[in-house]
Amino acid sequence: MQNNNVVCADCLETLKKMKTEKIDLIYLDPPFFTQNIQSLVSSKKNEKFSFCDKWKDMDEYLKFMEVRLEECKRVLKDTGSIFVHCDRNASHYLKVLLDKIFGTQYFQSEIIWFYKRWSNSKKGLLNNHQVILFYSKTSNFKFNRIYTDYSETTNVDQILQDRIKDKNGKSKYKIDENGESVIGKSKKGVPLSDVWEIPYLNPKAKERVGYPTQKPLILLEQIIKLVTEEGDIVLDPFVGSGTTVVAAKMLKRGYLGIDISQEAVDLTKERLEKLVKTESFLLKKGRASYQKQTEQQVELLKMIGAIPVQRNNGIDGFLKEYIDGKPVSVKIQKQDETLDEAVSKLIKASKTKKCIYMILIRTHVDRINTFDFEKNTEGLILLDSYEMQIHEKIDLREDCAI
Ligand SMILES: C[S@@+](CC[C@H](N)C(=O)[O-])C[C@H]1O[C@@H](n2cnc3c(N)ncnc32)[C@H](O)[C@@H]1O
Repeated sequence: MQNNNVVCADCLETLKKMKTEKIDLIYLDPPFFTQNIQSLVSSKKNEKFSFCDKWKDMDEYLKFMEVRLEECKRVLKDTGSIFVHCDRNASHYLKVLLDKIFGTQYFQSEIIWFYKRWSNSKKGLLNNHQVILFYSKTSNFKFNRIYTDYSETTNVDQILQDRIKDKNGKSKYKIDENGESVIGKSKKGVPLSDVWEIPYLNPKAKERVGYPTQKPLILLEQIIKLVTEEGDIVLDPFVGSGTTVVAAKMLKRGYLGIDISQEAVDLTKERLEKLVKTESFLLKKGRASYQKQTEQQVELLKMIGAIPVQRNNGIDGFLKEYIDGKPVSVKIQKQDETLDEAVSKLIKASKTKKCIYMILIRTHVDRINTFDFEKNTEGLILLDSYEMQIHEKIDLREDCAI
């Protein structure tokens, strides 16, 4: 099989024909033993893609995987690594199988790919992660360190200071002759851990092609960057819509893809022709960038049992409980908003949510009042913030004293 190629075949047959020790990285995302036919209709192409993930029993599945994983080991270079993508259905069985084939000493990590997706249909805990088992062929495997940002709670100031050990072997800050702390070597961040938060492809993502269980390109890019360098060869024996080979091409690695489905191979070739990748706003800007409300606003919402809502100019939250079968919207008057403006924004935004009741939390008294308190705005509940109530009470007492 030539480099930079995608073929339609049972991967076992193709792997058997491949030369020994030729591949730098193998990533495989095989059927997960879901005992279902995985299918999806592509909204862009209006085509239905599917593959079968039904087995007689676990034994049959594991035998299918074993022969293919053994061939994978053979074609892997001594400096190479394998990443096996699976989930709760069979990850524990695959771990035992991989220990047997590759050796427990070459088990490197169980990577948890964590994402947020929810549905209310299931009794029990939501499944919000998948597992990627990482084994190297030998201890001489390629590995590139990747660094991530410090968490918000880390005191980076302290981390930058140099440390030494005292005579009892206890670590302490290094001090110079003037009693000042000494700045240590530059820090690159926190080494990447085995829990990766990468968003699941959303239905509108540009790179989504409508293939069932399509994985995000960023996930594959991270794996490829971790254990290969430019010019290395990446193999995916269950290539599906081609995510691995597209990521490899984007990162200037050579690639080989195999899939038993002709539709999958055609789709992969199309994706290789025109490389498309979705930028993740969450990864680029961080979770905090979604948080538009101040701590004080979030506290006010929590006090009345509301769930904060981001990215809505007219509504800051909704009460957890519906009233008369409809959601109850909540808005906190902003410092630069008059009461009139706040009310009209809340009413406008609440119309689309079919709210009957709306709550507005007033935070200040307008310098010029334009709001008509006599006009009964139907469904509007006007509350004063605690801060305002305290000021009102104090003002009243001062008035009485005069
Ligand atoms: C989970 S999907 C891969 C999805 C892929 N990672 C993506 O991002 O689109 C599994 C793929 O394995 C393929 N497959 C199943 N049995 C196979 C076999 N024996 N040889 C090669 N491909 C196979 C299926 O056709 C399916 O496309």
